[in-house]
Amino acid sequence: MKLVFATHNQNKVKEVQLLMPKNITLLSLNDIDCFDEIAETANTLKGNAQLKADFVTEKYGYNCFADDTGLLVDSLNGEPGVFSARYAGEEKSTEANMAKLLKNLETKDNRVARFKTCIALNIDAKKYKFEGEVEGIITKEKYGIDGFGYDPIFRPNGFDKTFAELPIEIKNKISHRGRAIQKLIKHLNLS
Ligand code: IMP
Repeated sequence: MKLVFATHNQNKVKEVQLLMPKNITLLSLNDIDCFDEIAETANTLKGNAQLKADFVTEKYGYNCFADDTGLLVDSLNGEPGVFSARYAGEEKSTEANMAKLLKNLETKDNRVARFKTCIALNIDAKKYKFEGEVEGIITKEKYGIDGFGYDPIFRPNGFDKTFAELPIEIKNKISHRGRAIQKLIKHLNLS
């Protein structure tokens, strides 16, 4: 079965590919020659995930899923949240985003944060949603070189390493996206 993952982010594709059962052929946007930047204009993770999945289903006709992720920091009232990609500006710079977050937390004792992912699945004309979450803390500086996005400054509860220091298999087991994808796979009943 072919399933499109509506993302250009090859790091996400790599993570999800590792979790997918062999009988699912995962195609990224590049694989279907879709080079559009799909606008994320909703103000919720669910809304943005649905926008991305619908874009592919409507334009290309594939069964498809899309994810949208936010990093919610307790002492910043849930910021950056749905605006995580553009936290430091429209250029979506990972380095600038992390620098801004570390700066905004300089005076805070509470560094608790959680990643939340919402996945929208469009399959055989039906729509489903799956969510995943992981709690941890924002470190005071960056650690590790693997992963992507905010990984170097997010240390999940129960671990003494950031996501950027942990092997991808461990991240996948406990991460927001890993947990949401595990629910999607269970739903497809193909694992
Ligand atoms: P989006 O889901 O691609 O829109 O991601 C929103 C923001 O969260 C971007 O800045 C991503 O780099 C970041 N992000 C998404 N997933 C992860 C992750 O697994 N680890 C760290 N940062 C992430």
